[in-house]
Amino acid sequence: MNTQLLIDTANKLVADDKGLLAMDESNPTCNKRFAKLNIPQTVEARRAYRELIVTTPGLGECISGVILYDETIRQQKKDGTPFLKVLTDAGIIPGIKVDAGAKDLAAHPGEKITEGLDGLRDRLAEYFQMGALFAKWRAVIAIGVGIPSRSCIEANAHALARYAALCQEAGLVPVVEPEVLMDGDHTLEQCRAATEEVLRTVFNQLNSQRVMLEGMILKPNMVLPGLTCSTQESVDEVADTTMKSLWRTVPAAVPAIAFLSGGQSAELASARLNTMNHRFKTQLPWALAFSFARAIQQPALEIWRGEEANVTPAQQALLHRARCNRAARRGEYTVAMEKT
Ligand code: G3H
Repeated sequence: MNTQLLIDTANKLVADDKGLLAMDESNPTCNKRFAKLNIPQTVEARRAYRELIVTTPGLGECISGVILYDETIRQQKKDGTPFLKVLTDAGIIPGIKVDAGAKDLAAHPGEKITEGLDGLRDRLAEYFQMGALFAKWRAVIAIGVGIPSRSCIEANAHALARYAALCQEAGLVPVVEPEVLMDGDHTLEQCRAATEEVLRTVFNQLNSQRVMLEGMILKPNMVLPGLTCSTQESVDEVADTTMKSLWRTVPAAVPAIAFLSGGQSAELASARLNTMNHRFKTQLPWALAFSFARAIQQPALEIWRGEEANVTPAQQALLHRARCNRAARRGEYTVAMEKT
């Protein structure tokens, strides 16, 4: 295992208050988002959209790494330049989603297990050879009546740890993503309890699979009330609860925590990340960063709508969100930034 490469990559991914942009939606997920905006669900439309993202002028000022999907990592700009070259020329580190998606967990109604371990060693070797330096695997944990079950948490944590060990063996930094979903009417307290149990189990498994904590990044959910919960706590309360949970469960050896956005509005995701950094940054053992998909991309996608004429304003919207989130890493984001 190339320990130094892993440590260097992990640290580069959160240097200069930059963060990650997830553009690794699987084809079905990407098509679903396109369909809502009447964008054709074709390979060419997905390629054109991803070209818009990777060619955004100035993106590398705020984004240290992007997470690609298998289709995207092999694609090129219209003029034939591979996306991988466009990214590395902009100083952005390419990463890749390597899980095969969350499938129903047998005998556990309402719960999922992420698949993709079969053949993973060979796929990682190919991606590393192509130039990817980090990889992502997402596990999803739902909150509901009687769930999450202990067995669902354990099965997903075990898969995450086996994926992470394989990544490190191949020279890729694992971005370990155990996502406690926002769907439902659960309370902030229920999300806190589930998140802490999940993170404790994940770190137990990471230790038992001998994952080097200094060469990984944790990508967790913020601790939030369910989307349809009648009580929606303030930004300060969310920041306090999230920090408490992370302090209790995440070892100090982990260099960085990069949150997913999980369906929050782009502005709220920035405001919550900002508050955590503004209030706690000097006391934290890890960098507190972002690895957002929707909270960076959604406004741009809604402007683009598949129209060539909208590329420039869509890129401006994308860059704006990236800048807001970089400011949030510094604790310097303000609502006034949204008016600029
Ligand atoms: O796996 C999910 C993405 O990497 C993060 O997406 O920020 O839209 O939750 P999100």
